[in-house]
Formats: sequence, C-alpha cells, structure tokens
Amino acid sequence: MLKIKVEATSANVCVGFDVLGIALNLYNEFTFKKSSEFKFVGFEEEFSSCETNLVYEAYKYVFDLAKEVIVPVEIGFIGDIPVSRGLGSSSSLIVAGIFAANYYLKNKYSKRELFDIATAIEGHPDNVAPAIYGGLVASYQKDGKYYPNIYPIHKDLKFSVVIPNVKVSTHDARGVLPKELPYKDIVWNLSRIVNLPKAFMEGNIELLKDLFSDKLHEPYRSKLIPAYSDIKSIINKYNAAFAISGSGSTMLIVSKDLSFMDELKQIDYPVLTLEVGSGVKVE
Ligand code: HSE
Repeated sequence: MLKIKVEATSANVCVGFDVLGIALNLYNEFTFKKSSEFKFVGFEEEFSSCETNLVYEAYKYVFDLAKEVIVPVEIGFIGDIPVSRGLGSSSSLIVAGIFAANYYLKNKYSKRELFDIATAIEGHPDNVAPAIYGGLVASYQKDGKYYPNIYPIHKDLKFSVVIPNVKVSTHDARGVLPKELPYKDIVWNLSRIVNLPKAFMEGNIELLKDLFSDKLHEPYRSKLIPAYSDIKSIINKYNAAFAISGSGSTMLIVSKDLSFMDELKQIDYPVLTLEVGSGVKVE
C-alpha cells in the first residue's frame, strides 16, 4: 500500500501574495491501494465520488498527461488540516493525487515536473511549493512556468496558527480583492518582501514585525475573518508578527516565545504551535 503525507501550508506569509509559502507540520495522510474501481474512504460525504474528489482529479490529470490508462485505486484519507481555513487543504489533495499517480507511472515525472503539474492545477504556487519542497519557498513565473527557491528559517522561530470556526473559500477571498492598486501600495509590499528572507534567516522578530504589514490583500480580506482585529491587537502588544494565513480564515503568528498565549486564550479559537515542515513524504 502506498502512503502519502502532505503538510499544511501557510501561503503569502503576509507580504508575499501568490509568491511565498511555508510548510507547517500538520498533516493530511492518504493511502492508495489498487482496486477494481475507485473508492474513497474517510472523506466527507461531499468528496466521496470521482466527480467531486480533488485527489482523484489530480490523479487523473497526471494519467491523462502521460497518455496512460488510469489505474483504479481505493483512496483512504485521515486529515488534520482544516478545510477552507487558509492552511492549504486543497493543495494537499492535489499533491497527494499527483504523487500517487506518478508512483503508479513508475516515477515517470521528476519532483520538478510534479511541481509544474501541481501549479497548473492549483493556479498559484504558494501552497503547492512548500507542500512539495518543505520550508519557506518563494516562486516566480517565467513563460508560464513557476520556479521555486527555498530560504532558510532560524531554528528559534515559532509558528502559531489561530483557526476560527469559519470557512473562507479562496475563490471568495480573491473575489473581494480590488482590480487595481495604487503604485505606492505595491512599493510598500515590495520593500517588505525583499527584506523578509533576512528576517527569517536571522530570526529577527523586530524586523519581521515591521515587515508583516500587507497592502495587497489583507486589508480587503480582514473583514471576512471574525475577531481579526481583536487578535491582531493582542498580538501587536507582544514581540510577535501577525498575518492572515493564505486567504484565511486562519491567522499566522511568528514569534520566539509564546508570551501572548494567555491573553489569546480569551478569544475562544483553537491555537496550534507548529514546526516548519519538510515537504511531501511518499512511503
Ligand atoms: N495566494 C493565495 C491567495 C493563497 O491568497 O489567494 C490561497 O491559499
């Protein structure tokens, strides 16, 4: 039996809209077993058919691309990544589907090619890149392809996620973004993203706090997230950087200590402190 473990990812990392993402050690685990027909075990009812299951879609995409006859499998799922919360649950399904297909295709495609396939399916690279490569990954696009670069993260940095009990679909969260932005807002973000790798590498929280201030998406999306302002005001009082994780509703906190936890507990949302992930595992 094939087992694939895919980590949660926090896309954007505040100022890196559609560019930066980080892998975190919260997992979705998938099993694949050859079968006479497709079966979906452990998925929510709405994802229990070929028509609605994104793992299947991604799996089929790779067989179609390879022009090979699809191998029917029973797909088992145990998931810890919450759905539609800005922690890369969709990209975990895509990554599992394409890596499983590649296994049955006797590793026809390299990891790099699988990354190209994953970005073609997802449309943006900032979840699938860290889900595949692990760590903090920045991707850029050239001639329709994305190119990922991995940056070091200081070992003392801690990544906490606050997960509201509210789903936000990426589609809806992209829908609230303006069609155009003032030049000064772009420059604001550019000046921050260029300095971000230094802050992560040095574990420099003061710098991270300054740099975690986005003008491209966060001001428009914050209204979709209950208690966003309350949580942000709490975190701003401490030595910690705060941002929306992906398109929300989860919020990401980067810090060296967890001194904010007691006060954060007043807001009744689950908070997890996670390690940086190391990328997809195929066993
Ligand atoms: N960069 C994407 C967005 C990530 O913010 O819409 C979605 O998870």
